[in-house]
Amino acid sequence: MYTRAIVRRPGRNLASGITTSNLGQPDFNKALEQHAAYCDALKRCGVELTVLEADERYPDGCFVEDTAVVNNMVKVISRPGAASRRGEEEEIARVLAGFGPPESITPPGTLEGGDVLRAENHYFIGLSARTNTEGARQLSAILSKHGFTSAVIRVEAGLHLKSDIAYLGNGNFISTPVFSEIAHPANTIIPDRDEYYSANCLRVNDYLLIPIGFPKSKMQIRKLSYEIIELEMSEFRKMDGGLTCLSLLF
Ligand code: GLY
Repeated sequence: MYTRAIVRRPGRNLASGITTSNLGQPDFNKALEQHAAYCDALKRCGVELTVLEADERYPDGCFVEDTAVVNNMVKVISRPGAASRRGEEEEIARVLAGFGPPESITPPGTLEGGDVLRAENHYFIGLSARTNTEGARQLSAILSKHGFTSAVIRVEAGLHLKSDIAYLGNGNFISTPVFSEIAHPANTIIPDRDEYYSANCLRVNDYLLIPIGFPKSKMQIRKLSYEIIELEMSEFRKMDGGLTCLSLLF
């Protein structure tokens, strides 16, 4: 059960962040509206929010998920692999210190939270352009001290592991074909090619947050009887962001 979340509002320079999408420039005002709706959804899920103001030194700063790996036992400050994002974790470390002394990924390790997928007490750690073997090794060692198991998995394409897979709870995953073998096929929803973006969705307590505009995935998810909240993510998608990217939940 999640009780808290940390989020950061998007900055006016959101469009200067890193992206590989060809979807055009994000509109700042629309991004703010979408972020506000996201915060409202988290509150509806029963989560108390810490809302940080934008920090324009970091155009990708609203994607707070990448700055830490958190659960109710341990908080690990990450070390972003993207040079322009290094430093985002400092304010998050200050906030998380209020919940007990956090651990940290140290050089030469790099790790971004978008590469870390929790499924019950097991973590999948993606090795990507942002997360290296040493970062994964350090995280795995920290998690194991707290009773969590982990496995490393290679991310050959896409930004992060969680760009392509989410754990929905109850043993169920949604995944694009690249990671569909993580779980039993009977427990994995594979979106149609034109709906791959919907593989990034977010289970928060009794609800499942999914992006608006993916009716085929929605129908599949609905069969699993989750309570769905649909959110417009268009402006964050333009910056390679998804639902999981916008919060740290614990
Ligand atoms: N725009 C998010 C990232 O590339 O980290």
